[in-house]
Amino acid sequence: MAARKIIIDTDPGQDDAVAILLALASPDEIEVLGLTAVAGNVPLELTAKNARIVCELAGRPDIPVYAGCDRPMNRELVTAEHVHGKTGLDGPVLPDPEMPLADGHGVDFIIDTLRAHAPGTVTLCPLGPLTNIATAIEKAPDIVERVQQIVLMGGAYFEVGNITPAAEFNIYVDPQAADIVFKSGADIVVMPLDVTHDALVTPHRNDAFRALDSKVGHAVAEMTDFFERFDKEKYGSDGAPLHDPCVTAYLIQPELFSGRFVNVQIETRSPLTMGMTVADWWGVTDHPPNALFISDVDADGFFKLLTERLARL
Ligand code: RIB
Ligand code: CA
Repeated sequence: MAARKIIIDTDPGQDDAVAILLALASPDEIEVLGLTAVAGNVPLELTAKNARIVCELAGRPDIPVYAGCDRPMNRELVTAEHVHGKTGLDGPVLPDPEMPLADGHGVDFIIDTLRAHAPGTVTLCPLGPLTNIATAIEKAPDIVERVQQIVLMGGAYFEVGNITPAAEFNIYVDPQAADIVFKSGADIVVMPLDVTHDALVTPHRNDAFRALDSKVGHAVAEMTDFFERFDKEKYGSDGAPLHDPCVTAYLIQPELFSGRFVNVQIETRSPLTMGMTVADWWGVTDHPPNALFISDVDADGFFKLLTERLARL
């Protein structure tokens, strides 16, 4: 089967970095057409820099990286240096990128790429706030029917929020953008905290990354060593949740995941629950399902895949 063409929209972020590395280590299944950086974990200047750092870490300075939106559609930017550090990629010492940013705006790259490829052949993989995706849809509504699928990390239901009691960070940063995406009619697969909180990098799993004894293996282990302290302290968990790599792992081995096709709506008005993903898990409304909401992962299978693929880099 031909490799799936994807655009990764990202706010690196240690977990974004691992998701990008997994994609670049899997050329038989995934062809990365480009990365679009978005403001999220850290400001755009840093996410655009970190995306290039990760491409060079993977030995892929040929991957075009575009800067996208530097703030949410109509809210102040909220960042997460308390989780990811002031650089957004704290942990390993990695060289500044030599590859330049690609010319043009990330939103235009998304639009132009979808228009240039046959309908239904390009998948969008948002790993941060949905600002770039929603802005592209607003600017060029014709692209929605051209998108093969949107496989995104964001939201939470049974797991509740991680940035407020009700909301997960990616959705909370730009609820209006998320509302546009979830109402777009596109084929959407959601990796919420409900599943990503089962993808924990336990010490044993992080030792397996380190044991690769490669630049990538050590970098990922050191990213995890930094990234995990916040979640371990907050949740008392046995490791950091690898949120974003669930997106790329789904493209490679969807059978590792399971969920339910339900209606998901975004709270965009209430200050108390702003950014909440309201999933009608039990079908108590007549709202039509609009997203495959993933709830479970075979965590051992996920880490086996991830470790094997990182060994290739
Ligand atoms: O809530 C987790 C999400 O927010 C992840 O994508 C992480 O990288 C941050 O963007
Ligand atoms: Ca992210």
